[in-house]
Amino acid sequence: MRPSAPAPRPELSGIPAYVPKPPRPPAAGPSHRLFLNENPYPPLPSVREVIAEASAATNRYPGIFPERLIDALSGKLGVPHSHVITGPGSVGIYQQIGQAMLKPGDEVVYAWPSFEAFPIVVRMAGAIPVEVPLTGHTHDLDAMAAAITPRTSAVLLCEPNNPTGTAVGAMRLKRFLDQVPSDVLVVLDEAYFEFYRSSDAPDGMALYRDRPNLLVLRTFSKAYGLAGLRVGYGVAHPEIAEALRKCAVPCGVSSIAEEAALHSLDAEAELFARVERITAERERVRAALAAPGREVPASETNFLWLPLGQDTERVTSELERHGVLTRAFPGDGARVTVGEPAANDLLIEVAEQLIRGR
Ligand SMILES: Cc1ncc(COP(=O)(O)O)c(C=O)c1O
Repeated sequence: MRPSAPAPRPELSGIPAYVPKPPRPPAAGPSHRLFLNENPYPPLPSVREVIAEASAATNRYPGIFPERLIDALSGKLGVPHSHVITGPGSVGIYQQIGQAMLKPGDEVVYAWPSFEAFPIVVRMAGAIPVEVPLTGHTHDLDAMAAAITPRTSAVLLCEPNNPTGTAVGAMRLKRFLDQVPSDVLVVLDEAYFEFYRSSDAPDGMALYRDRPNLLVLRTFSKAYGLAGLRVGYGVAHPEIAEALRKCAVPCGVSSIAEEAALHSLDAEAELFARVERITAERERVRAALAAPGREVPASETNFLWLPLGQDTERVTSELERHGVLTRAFPGDGARVTVGEPAANDLLIEVAEQLIRGR
């Protein structure tokens, strides 16, 4: 018998809602958005000019792909044009990965907690998530390698990790990559690459060259402050890059986003000075929040992880009441984006009050 109404694919019923309810700002007083790992600084005046100029031509379609941006990235990264993939944010590229590289019944290994898009992409493809718990807030690379079976088609790895901010470093990452069979795709998500300060920071662009199974993702959303324009990119060998391009939404990167991204590559000195301020603030906030018995893992990103366990909801609601909007992972911890100094000061002050009032 035919069903009485159109039915979505059954896989969708297992997909968690990607966007949790955003924290609510208090009715009065200022509030600070520290829940989405955004760059707190508004676009540079020169970027706004470029955006305004590009807006004059929005009656025209952009290119199927943002070819000028791809050229610029290929030059900057020293990789062939055919190796560069773009999308409306790196989450757009994840959808391409799901369509191009995952089949129903495939196993996909990733750490948990990690980027919240992972289970969605995997389930959407009808593939099976294999979640490997973090150990000490960090990827357990040995356990991840052990979780790979003949049915594994991909590993998703966020370095540094979201939501914990922790990093495994180049040495351990290389050792892991060498253990992954050559027919298993590894997606190395470097969304926070520009905030990574350790001398052992891996560089996906160097790693992918002699690893045809590695796909590296980066974004203009974080260090470049263009989250609202939706533009991300990836680099992989041509077989993977071509497959992903086949699954891309045509004209998926707007001409405004392309112009702003192009200009931002030229304005890196100014933008990276802001990144420097954010990483300095990150260390200041971490030092202020950490104390004996209060662990705040070292972060290589623009956010900090507070492993609050059962206290998470109490603390995040209290922060919310004071206008500090963070991302709660109930029962586990809170992720707090590094904001402008005033936001960070307020976070520190409220956290101190909460601890003293315990
Ligand atoms: C690990 C990771 N990858 C990708 C993204 C999304 O980036 P985009 O804005 O490029 O889609 C985020 C955003 O929070 C992230 O944390």
